[in-house]
Amino acid sequence: MQKLRLFVIAATMILTAVLTVANEGRRVDVARFDSDGNLIVPTNLDEWVFIGSSLGMGYSQETFDPDSPGMFQIVRMEPSAYQHFKETGVFPDGTMLSLHFYGSQNELSISRAGYVMNDLHFAEIHYKDRDRFPDGFNFYNLANGEPLGTEIPVPNDCITCHEKDGAYDGVFVQFYPTIHEYLPDDVRAKLENNKSASHH
Ligand code: HEC
Repeated sequence: MQKLRLFVIAATMILTAVLTVANEGRRVDVARFDSDGNLIVPTNLDEWVFIGSSLGMGYSQETFDPDSPGMFQIVRMEPSAYQHFKETGVFPDGTMLSLHFYGSQNELSISRAGYVMNDLHFAEIHYKDRDRFPDGFNFYNLANGEPLGTEIPVPNDCITCHEKDGAYDGVFVQFYPTIHEYLPDDVRAKLENNKSASHH
């Protein structure tokens, strides 16, 4: 009996280890490409999981004008990659993240103060694939309504900035509080420290 118990415990431990490794090595296989390497725009973009937004965020020194705040930027993640990330804290190969730019408008309908979203201007996709790209990821431009996303030739400035300043694996998770709870502990701790240093 004792022996059987030990055997069951050992077998369970081995199985758990095997499953963990398999899970971490997993890739999500959703992205499709044409023969020229363009991304076939996923038809379910509207069903991707919302992870963050910003308004009029710029990367250089230009001043923010409250009367003309710029565009809303909406970031979402492909659902199977989101699920994997939630379980493991890892962005698997095959992960896609989208960034959509919408205009901002005041005094629409009953709104008198503040800004609401209006038309979609364009979108971009961050795609991870360690076999395909030397940096492990690259970007595609989605023109509004076009069926193909065009690959941005590597190397490019997009990758440089994302690698340098994206807080986790080239992704700007520091701006996506909705997913912080799933990040590895050390990354989350670092973000918390930075937040308390600069919070208003
Ligand atoms: C100078 C830095 C910088 C450069 C250059 C840059 N980005 Fe980003 N990117 C950001 C920041 C900051 C965010 C956070 C989201 C936001 O803007 O609200 C972001 C977010 C994204 C996201 C959402 C997923 C993610 O990785 O966080 C995509 C997709 C994206 N950028 C595409 C691009 C593409 C395509 C280019 C090049 C044409 C580019 N970026 C160039 C700073 C940069």
